Amino acid sequence: MSTLLRLKNVNLKYQTGKELIKVLQGIDLTTKKKETISIVGESGSGKTSLIMLIAGLEKATSGKIFFKDQEISKLNEDEVSQIRRKNIGIIFQSFYLIPNYTAVENVALTLELNKFKNPQQKAKSLLDRFGLKHRLNNLPSQLSGGEQQRVAIARAIAMKPELILADEPTGNLDSENSSMIADILFNFAKEEGSSLIIVTHDSKLANRAKRKIKIKDGKID
Ligand SMILES: Nc1ncnc2c1ncn2[C@@H]1O[C@H](COP(=O)(O)OP(=O)(O)O)[C@@H](O)[C@H]1O
Ligand SMILES: [Mg+2]
Repeated sequence: MSTLLRLKNVNLKYQTGKELIKVLQGIDLTTKKKETISIVGESGSGKTSLIMLIAGLEKATSGKIFFKDQEISKLNEDEVSQIRRKNIGIIFQSFYLIPNYTAVENVALTLELNKFKNPQQKAKSLLDRFGLKHRLNNLPSQLSGGEQQRVAIARAIAMKPELILADEPTGNLDSENSSMIADILFNFAKEEGSSLIIVTHDSKLANRAKRKIKIKDGKID
């Protein structure tokens, strides 16, 4: 299988006042297309920061990051966001849905932005597949946590991204909803041939990934 992501000696530091915080240090990581990977580690170890770097939502202090042989760490914000919009679906613990958009509209918006045909119809069929047929026209505030996360996942994967990044996607959910979300993510990745990188505290969820990466004090353990 060919390479999807390559991180070479990546460091991330934050200067807050006089203090220099070394968040990630000397990260070397290569992942393959279609690979499923879990990232585990204590709170504050740098997991979210790593996801943000891979997504191009944060800039590394030093080091190089390649996505499909393109060095994204040297691109400007606009260039990175174009690559991200086409290729990467991101799911967070707090769902970040647009509050005044219905479930369908939240999902359709991404498809519209990517110039897909029939965005409403595609959004509906995806939500239907995730068991939300009866919630299509509800606002996020009218949905349960599990339902909101399913909408957020539908939005993230609607354009069938080559990479799905999920940062503690079940962190706010009960065990029943967690296992449903896990099924949706892993089944979708398998069916569409997407790579899935998932940060989680849930060992059952982490063990579903083919490869497990442990982060400790900003380093790969
Ligand atoms: N914008 C920031 N400014 C300063 N420190 C930060 C910032 N973002 C994260 N950190 C620090 O980086 C460390 C790692 O954070 P994070 O990646 O969120 O960890 P995790 O997701 O593993 O809990 C923490 O000590 C956190 O306080
Ligand atoms: Mg985190």
